[in-house]
Amino acid sequence: TTAAVLLAGGTGTRLYPASRSHRPKQFLALGDDDRSLLRRTADRAAFADDLFVVTRDSYADRVREAVPEATVLVEPAGRDTGPALAYAASEVSDRLDDAVMLCLPSDHVVGEGFRDTAETAVSVAERTGDLVTLGVEPDRPATGYGYIQPGADHGDHYAVRQFREKPDAATARELVDAGCLWNAGMFAWTPDAFLDAAGDGPLAPLVTALETEDGESADSAFDAVDPVSVDYAVLERASGVRLVPAGFDWDDVGAWDALARRADGDNATLGEALTIDAAGNVVASDDKHVSVVGADDLVVAAFDDRVLVVPVDEAQRVREVVAELRENG
Ligand code: GDD
Ligand code: MG
Repeated sequence: TTAAVLLAGGTGTRLYPASRSHRPKQFLALGDDDRSLLRRTADRAAFADDLFVVTRDSYADRVREAVPEATVLVEPAGRDTGPALAYAASEVSDRLDDAVMLCLPSDHVVGEGFRDTAETAVSVAERTGDLVTLGVEPDRPATGYGYIQPGADHGDHYAVRQFREKPDAATARELVDAGCLWNAGMFAWTPDAFLDAAGDGPLAPLVTALETEDGESADSAFDAVDPVSVDYAVLERASGVRLVPAGFDWDDVGAWDALARRADGDNATLGEALTIDAAGNVVASDDKHVSVVGADDLVVAAFDDRVLVVPVDEAQRVREVVAELRENG
């Protein structure tokens, strides 16, 4: 059976001030669809036999409201995607026999053709017992993604020669030139395959505690583990990772510049905006009317009682604002 596992515990802070820790990106309806990104992800995964959402305690009620058909797994503490997926693997294997987990971020914009690729990934994971990741064709040397270098061609998938999470700009250029794909952050594996691989790195104590089936020791192992993403904790280290190339359009809408890229030179607007003699801007707001005059390539975002202005090509620096304000967590 296929168990879709949606990751919905991130704080999505690079879309500040639209996305904030009390209202992260997965709960927003970005683009031309009024369903939230989380709801859209659940709809896209509806072909799976079972649906789980793993999230942190403070988002659990909103997740239940948005995805009433899912089993909501509340992780003992927010420690990034490595611990979250170890927890999910242990819960799924307690509840289901012979499940393959299809692990999906809940805050991406995904086009047609998702189901075919996802079913291929599940079948490769089932057949090989290895960890399977989905890869997307890169169009720039982005530093916010993982890179996957394909090896031998096995028909419906490739072996993986190298997995490299969030390289610096120079390395990203080399990896693109070497034919790497971006990691879409979507994975397929059996709970056992994942826990085996995770048991070999920084998640080892957590995996051991989860396997003892003692809730209290799992809670304290969660408290003790340092936050680490699944990409660093498992995929970079594991041998026997396999790649299925994505046959669909994909955008992780990671930061405001993603909206500018989609608008392709026009102004991207979200909410009510007036632009005069202005191009390449991202103008976004909730219930405010925002005007931009005689300025190009700026992000102007006004949500709640917050306003952000930053050049589009420095949009990643929102991280600095969030760090300064301690919006994280
Ligand atoms: N349950 C839970 N708990 N979910 C989490 C947590 C957590 O502590 N932290 C993040 N998530 C969720 C986010 O909500 C998102 O849906 C997903 O996990 C991925 O987390 P991000 O924080 O958005 O990861 P990233 O974008 O920096 O990097 C990942 O995705 C890239 C593609 O978008 C990596 O897998 C990269 O390799 C990949 O290229
Ligand atoms: Mg992301």
